[in-house]
Amino acid sequence: MIVVADEPDRATPLHPDELDGLRFKHITTRGELDELEQVNIESGLAWLNRRRKTDMLTEQFMRTLHRQMFGDVWKWAGQFRQTEKNIGIDPVQIAVQLKMLLDDARYWADNHTFAPLEASARFHHRLVQIHPFANGNGRHARIAADTYIADRFEHAPIDWTAGHDLQHTNDRRNAYIAALRAADAGNYEPLLAFVSA
Ligand SMILES: Nc1ncnc2c1ncn2[C@@H]1O[C@H](COP(=O)(O)OP(=O)(O)OP(=O)(O)O)[C@@H](O)[C@H]1O
Ligand SMILES: [Mg+2]
Repeated sequence: MIVVADEPDRATPLHPDELDGLRFKHITTRGELDELEQVNIESGLAWLNRRRKTDMLTEQFMRTLHRQMFGDVWKWAGQFRQTEKNIGIDPVQIAVQLKMLLDDARYWADNHTFAPLEASARFHHRLVQIHPFANGNGRHARIAADTYIADRFEHAPIDWTAGHDLQHTNDRRNAYIAALRAADAGNYEPLLAFVSA
């Protein structure tokens, strides 16, 4: 049995039902899980690169991207979570709130409401705030934001890590979480500084 939330700010502890969905029963450490997820994410990125450029601002694309990134590791990949988490909205609201975000993001791109980095940062923030999945929301929403900025603005991807490891506690991760919290309170400046750095 693994302890998924063994680091205090690794967010979202998994429900026993969710842990049941682990496809590798022999895993014993967080590091082993991280590695399996990383291999899966790389095949998800390969899928993303070779996909036909369909509209990414759909529920189907968001779910398929999550399944491509995590489906070899978690049986529930690509399905919306059904349990409450310490981060994220009430699970019954996920589909509706995600639809509103996707429609907003389309409007921002069509109407040049924000510069590309700001539109993408706002999209990312709201997506992790909704927290559609049981796990992998940060990694999924960073890649989703990069797909948005590329597809809708023809802009280079965001340098999320800036040479650091965003998965573990360090100054870059702390700045990232602090910027998301400021955005929760309506102040997007720190997040904009973060994605512009
Ligand atoms: N207070 C917070 N602490 C941790 N994460 C937060 C917080 N507020 C928002 N988040 C977002 O939630 C994500 C963590 O959620 P989740 O565990 O589902 O994603 P993940 O991809 O597994 O996470 P990680 O970023 O640790 O790789 C963070 O990456 C971040 O985007
Ligand atoms: Mg996680």
